[in-house]
Amino acid sequence: MASLSDQLLELFTSFSSRLEAAADEQAVRKAYADFGGPQGQVRLKQRDLLKAAPNAEKKAIGQATNEILQKIEAAFAARLGATVEQAARGDLERTVDVTLPGRARPLGHLHPITIARREIEEIFAQLGFTVAVGPQVESDFHNFEALAMPKDHPARDMQDTFYVADVDDVVLRTHTSPVQIRTMLAQPPPVRIIAPGTVYRRDDDATHSPMFNQVEGLCVDEGITFADLKGVLMHFAQRFFGAGITARLRPSFFPFTEPSAEIDFTCTFCRGSGCRTCKQTGWIEIGGSGMVDPEVFRHVGYDSEKYSGFAFGWGIDRMAMLKYGIDNINQFFDGDVRFSRMFRS
Ligand code: PHE
Repeated sequence: MASLSDQLLELFTSFSSRLEAAADEQAVRKAYADFGGPQGQVRLKQRDLLKAAPNAEKKAIGQATNEILQKIEAAFAARLGATVEQAARGDLERTVDVTLPGRARPLGHLHPITIARREIEEIFAQLGFTVAVGPQVESDFHNFEALAMPKDHPARDMQDTFYVADVDDVVLRTHTSPVQIRTMLAQPPPVRIIAPGTVYRRDDDATHSPMFNQVEGLCVDEGITFADLKGVLMHFAQRFFGAGITARLRPSFFPFTEPSAEIDFTCTFCRGSGCRTCKQTGWIEIGGSGMVDPEVFRHVGYDSEKYSGFAFGWGIDRMAMLKYGIDNINQFFDGDVRFSRMFRS
């Protein structure tokens, strides 16, 4: 068997090469623990030898092993200091190039329907209209009854209604006209509001989505006439779509207006000369309008002898489609960012 000093020398050599190979502070500490620590190889060897040796030899064994432990300790301390210093120097030498361009964070932006809605609100705000809102889940009274569409009225069929299951007389509003009712119930005349919002109908094709957006207009005061309606619509058409676009009114029917009119705007594609989109007429249908029916005033407690008013309603989505030349309404709702990014301002 190798002599005691050879055995200890061999342990020290193994420790030295572990220390040599240690790449960082953690590895240096681990090497020390494996050899010089309380459970390290030198201590274990010391314990074994002392147990087996006759008393006379114990002192020599203790001295020899302690000497090796001191050498290990010293080598460890030196190597640890060097490693820590080297790491600190590395940190200092790592430079930052402050002239490199920063990383741009992509900014979000508004949805095209929101852009169109805000523009509509802005134009009407300048005419003195304020914005009113109402719930999307609406009572039969506000959505139909007070708008002169009693139960079984044939006009209800025009608006393929979603009914809320198992609840009587609750619907998803089919138009923004119930906001007319809510506004008039809440305040006396004069009234000048627009009411933008989401509405629902059981419709689904390229130009109809089951969920879409309308804007309602309502103006009630003494002496309001059909000419006021037309003037406001002509002004709006021109502001929203640009010079050369105007409005015309065609006789129509709505239960809650009398007389009623369909609103047409100059075709925004051919600007009136006639094209495929407007079927060569030069006009595009935009929405409905009319003078508020006295029956509606009766429901909200307005005096129809003293007051008169006009109302209109159209699709915001359709407005945006015309303005931006989009041919499928569902593109607004698909959530494809490549589409909405085109409207980044
Ligand atoms: N609410 C009607 C619709 O959605 C439009 C309309 C509004 C007609 C106001 C007249 C007056 O079809």
